Amino acid sequence: MNSDSNKENFISICREKIRRTGREELLEWLELSDFFSAPASTKYHGCCEGGLCEHSLNVYDQLLLLLRTYNLTTSEEAAAIVALFHDLCKVNFYKKSTRNVKDENGKWVEKEFWTIEEQSPLGDHADKSIIIIQQFMKLTEQEIYAIRAHMGGFDTSVKGGSYLIGKIFEKSGLALLLHCADLTATYLLESRSKESVTN
Ligand SMILES: [Fe+2]
Ligand SMILES: [Fe+2]
Repeated sequence: MNSDSNKENFISICREKIRRTGREELLEWLELSDFFSAPASTKYHGCCEGGLCEHSLNVYDQLLLLLRTYNLTTSEEAAAIVALFHDLCKVNFYKKSTRNVKDENGKWVEKEFWTIEEQSPLGDHADKSIIIIQQFMKLTEQEIYAIRAHMGGFDTSVKGGSYLIGKIFEKSGLALLLHCADLTATYLLESRSKESVTN
């Protein structure tokens, strides 16, 4: 799917499934940001124009599939919010740059690549997504658990020896399934290389 139809699809799911106060303000902010053109990573999954919106839609599809598979009841609104907004930390985060590389004939050519230029260091990844969303709409405790733990074992707190993510998974099936949806979207649907990591 191209960027335009992904954008249309993203906005229509938001308007159909999310009824919460602040939805339109958040959509307006996304429209003014680079959300619909940003990549999902610099060189791993979805590292192309529009990759972030496409990844969010893929996570949404995967989450609905997993919720059905495990017969886990959650509101349609919560599923849409946690899946579509879990990576808002990546808005205004990547920048296109260029560097000179040698082509197959040994000639120097200019090549575009994505790099990180953090414009709003509000928190680390998942925390930052929660902070951004809550500037527009109030999240429920279950939604906060899900977004906070969506990186699972890749969360930076795990490296420091924290058990937070495991404690969240014990309390929230939605959190566990959002993490699984993020993994399957990243590695099965979007990954350029099977060895890549989520970021
Ligand atoms: Fe993420
Ligand atoms: Fe993600």
